[in-house]
Amino acid sequence: MSKVTVVGAGNVGSTVANVLAHKDIVNEVVLLDLKGDMAKGKALDSWQQAPIDYYSTKLKGTDNYRDTKGSDIVVITAGVPRKPGMSRDDLIGINAKIVVSVTKSILKYSKNPIIIIVSNPLDVMTHAAFQASGLKSNRIMGMAGILDTARYRAFLATELNCSPKDIQAVLMGGHGDSMAPLPRYTTVAGIPVTELIEAPKLKAIVERTKKGGGELVKLMGTSAWYAPGAAAAQMVESIIKDDKRIFPVCAFLNGQYGLKNMFLGVPVKLGKNGIEEVIELKLNKRESALLKKSADHVNAVIKVFKKMKLV
Ligand code: LAC
Repeated sequence: MSKVTVVGAGNVGSTVANVLAHKDIVNEVVLLDLKGDMAKGKALDSWQQAPIDYYSTKLKGTDNYRDTKGSDIVVITAGVPRKPGMSRDDLIGINAKIVVSVTKSILKYSKNPIIIIVSNPLDVMTHAAFQASGLKSNRIMGMAGILDTARYRAFLATELNCSPKDIQAVLMGGHGDSMAPLPRYTTVAGIPVTELIEAPKLKAIVERTKKGGGELVKLMGTSAWYAPGAAAAQMVESIIKDDKRIFPVCAFLNGQYGLKNMFLGVPVKLGKNGIEEVIELKLNKRESALLKKSADHVNAVIKVFKKMKLV
């Protein structure tokens, strides 16, 4: 028996639940939202898709935390999304309170779940959930790297007119404009991308990736959901199936990359115990400096969170 709860039935949360249901890898997905009947409606809609798309995953929508009892994994998407012109950091005032309160409510009904944070500002909200939960650090993580590398990979596929399936990449750092896609670790069917795309063009793609979320906010007036939802569902899949896939994930660092006591995007192995390993790359000077800059940025927002005294 496996049960996954998704908190927040907005665009991202309902996409996570729907994509997860399609994967047919857990017995039950609970979609929780305290606001009205939206979770109930979206879960029912997804359940009615099951006979068409052929899955057995049960879906339940609710506004009551009791229904989340005994969840193995909880994906937290609750909070407000960005509006055009906002940075993810601007959301901290509202979202920090929500993430802390959701985490505490979840822990009342599930003793030792694995928690995946999607709410922004991502790295700081993951830290907040860690502190509010008291869970071991391998059981708390944030979804950003899969999404950010997916954007990078999609842009590269467009540029090369090739399948995005063949593009592999590493991206590190926080989920903000300081993120660091790493061309040295980007390959196209095993071929280093630096052999296929000229440096200035590659640089432009890296810059577009960093602002990839903002590009969508501008287009849609709110933040994205298809790729973010699919990315969180992919993390759940690797954990539930104990696949031990390697993804960039916002993970707790305890000395790796010279960083301590903070959450930041790094390559990790995801299996049944959550984060089973943080993979340490031998970064060159430039890459290390980029990571340090991103860590400094996240730490500045952590300071704002600490001042709020929520945990
Ligand atoms: C984005 C939001 C989910 O990057 O952070 O689209």
